Amino acid sequence: MQITALKAIAQLVFVKNTSVPKTPCPTKARTLFCFLLIGLPHISAAAENGHNLQTSEQISSPAAYIGPAACQDCHPDKYQGFIQTAHHITSRLADAQSIAGHFTGDAAFMWTRNDKLWFEMSARDDEFYQTANIWGEDNKLHEHSERMEIVTGSGKIGQTYLYWKNDRLYQLPISYWAASGKWINSPGYPDGQAVFDRPVGPRCMECHATYFAAEDYERNVYGQGEFMLGISCERCHGPGAQHATFQASAPADAGAPHITHPGDLSRQRSIEICAQCHSGAGIKHGRPFTYRPGLPLAEYIEPEPHETQNSIGVHSNNQVARLSLSACFQQSDDLTCASCHNPHAPERGDRALFSSRCLDCHTVEACGMEPELGHAIVDNCIDCHMPGRQDKKTGVQSARGMDFPIMPEHLIGIYPDATQHFMAQRAADK
Ligand code: HEC
Ligand code: HEC
Ligand code: HEC
Ligand code: HEC
Ligand code: HEC
Ligand code: HEC
Ligand code: HEC
Repeated sequence: MQITALKAIAQLVFVKNTSVPKTPCPTKARTLFCFLLIGLPHISAAAENGHNLQTSEQISSPAAYIGPAACQDCHPDKYQGFIQTAHHITSRLADAQSIAGHFTGDAAFMWTRNDKLWFEMSARDDEFYQTANIWGEDNKLHEHSERMEIVTGSGKIGQTYLYWKNDRLYQLPISYWAASGKWINSPGYPDGQAVFDRPVGPRCMECHATYFAAEDYERNVYGQGEFMLGISCERCHGPGAQHATFQASAPADAGAPHITHPGDLSRQRSIEICAQCHSGAGIKHGRPFTYRPGLPLAEYIEPEPHETQNSIGVHSNNQVARLSLSACFQQSDDLTCASCHNPHAPERGDRALFSSRCLDCHTVEACGMEPELGHAIVDNCIDCHMPGRQDKKTGVQSARGMDFPIMPEHLIGIYPDATQHFMAQRAADK
């Protein structure tokens, strides 16, 4: 996917979350867009000359997040790689590029088992709607229509769409499923009903965005101020306003006192940076968006006990708990998520690259299959030692049954079924 720097700026700038009427520059998301178009020349010019990296509106945000574009000049390589990652695009304003589903012909409809209910997705003047068409008892056609305003999901497994009602955020009933390339019932939604009132609470946005002004976890109210879409660098390094201001005039040997380097933290603290979003919903102790990299996560979000079992779910996949059970983790001091994942580069699906990271600690010869398969295994340790597993927690209901995504097992181990599958595949390929 081609993502321009311009778009990156546009998506991550702070915007006032004020309520606005539906026309003529309607609803909140549209207002964001109006604001962005006006704000852009100033911001990109500032980013170009390297000074005054953020507008006063951004720096006065209570959380002091400034967005990745503000890091670009001083860390160009990190920035260029990062904007191609799923983290960067996991929440965006709805537009023709960000929405993966279709709006024309048959593909614009979703039929249900209930022959009195069908959905239509429609596009008008750069705005995108989901409409439930319902045949009522009165023998008349009723419509309920809401605008798709925020897109969640890069689109690997799928996307879910959100809309504002005043200062409250809700989930829309129809999602997009990448495996079929079609509209589906949103996960957990029963087929044949039109549900528009499922609230989207702050924990959801805490995992899928950089910042939303929210007072408590229990309500879907974001009335107080501002939000920033996409997961920025700062969710892993801490808010960057002070760092950027300081470094702009600091001497070369000043170090970097105002930003967190995960590599300087203990293994536990380093993994907790990822665990804030990759170990399940957790038990919430603090207020939303108050955890900062380097702090003890359990004081904010405490992983739930059941997450130690292999109860994968698309929003957690339980990577932290599973990895911790691996011999690789238990018998080394320094294995972290970053040993295999570089958050500053798009790496999705690159089996050879991930396998090269196993070889930081292992030799090919250490593998019991090497005598039989030889060096041919060098490009793919993954399919045998971290095989994909069906995620039964995140099924979606369709007219033809249940669909489940596949997630890789993070308990690195020896899986006879996966080895068998690999061998059968190999034999079939010959
Ligand atoms: C005005 C230039 C400038 C800007 C803007 C800037 N940085 Fe830095 N950053 C530096 C310098 C200089 C260092 C210290 C030298 C080094 O280690 O590379 C540094 C170091 C870092 C480090 C390593 C810290 C350490 O202890 O070694 C991280 C992480 C970092 N920056 C992240 C960011 C992020 C995230 C942003 C945007 C929110 C950002 N920087 C914006 C100049 C900048
Ligand atoms: C603020 C929440 C958050 C933090 C912090 C976070 N992630 Fe993620 N991560 C996500 C979300 C959400 C996705 C799904 C993005 C999508 O596809 O829409 C994701 C996706 C990923 C993916 C899959 C990427 C792909 O292209 O398929 C990897 C790998 C990953 N994260 C690793 C990490 C690691 C390692 C860390 C810590 C260094 C980390 N994440 C920190 C929320 C987070
Ligand atoms: C605990 C953190 C967390 C919470 C809470 C959470 N998610 Fe996720 N979600 C993730 C992670 C991590 C992934 C990525 C899994 C992967 O890449 O394999 C993900 C995946 C997704 C995907 C699929 C992304 C893709 O590109 O395939 C969508 C859509 C999504 N989440 C939407 C939501 C919505 C909407 C909510 C709230 C109503 C929510 N999530 C709550 C962490 C979370
Ligand atoms: C998902 C979490 C995550 C995101 C997002 C992220 N980083 Fe990092 N970053 C890390 C981790 C983890 C390390 C430490 C890697 C290590 O120790 O091997 C790191 C290291 C760094 C370093 C210091 C080490 C080095 O190689 O110079 C800089 C500078 C940095 N990141 C800048 C950025 C910038 C700028 C962005 C956004 C454009 C960004 N990071 C986005 C997790 C993240
Ligand atoms: C930071 C170093 C490190 C990395 C990276 C690493 N491992 Fe390990 N691994 C170890 C250590 C240490 C052990 C335990 C001693 C041994 O068996 O060699 C181990 C054990 C294993 C075992 C034996 C498991 C068991 O339960 O008996 C397998 C299989 C394995 N690793 C495969 C992998 C694969 C595949 C990768 C990459 C996806 C990988 N490792 C990455 C350090 C690492
Ligand atoms: C030993 C290597 C290794 C370590 C350590 C590791 N991962 Fe992974 N992870 C992988 C591989 C390989 C994949 C499959 C990636 C792909 O095909 O794109 C993966 C995939 C993922 C995904 C995407 C899930 C999906 O559906 O594809 C997420 C999210 C993720 N890892 C998070 C983490 C987190 C969080 C940690 C730390 C707790 C971690 N990983 C530690 C190797 C590792
Ligand atoms: C075809 C499936 C397959 C592939 C590919 C594969 N392995 Fe293995 N690996 C196995 C099996 C099966 C065992 C157990 C063999 C035994 O006990 O004789 C094993 C054992 C291991 C062990 C543990 C050895 C011990 O006795 O503790 C390590 C380490 C290992 N593999 C690493 C790797 C690495 C690194 C790669 C990629 C370069 C890799 N494997 C590729 C199937 C595979």
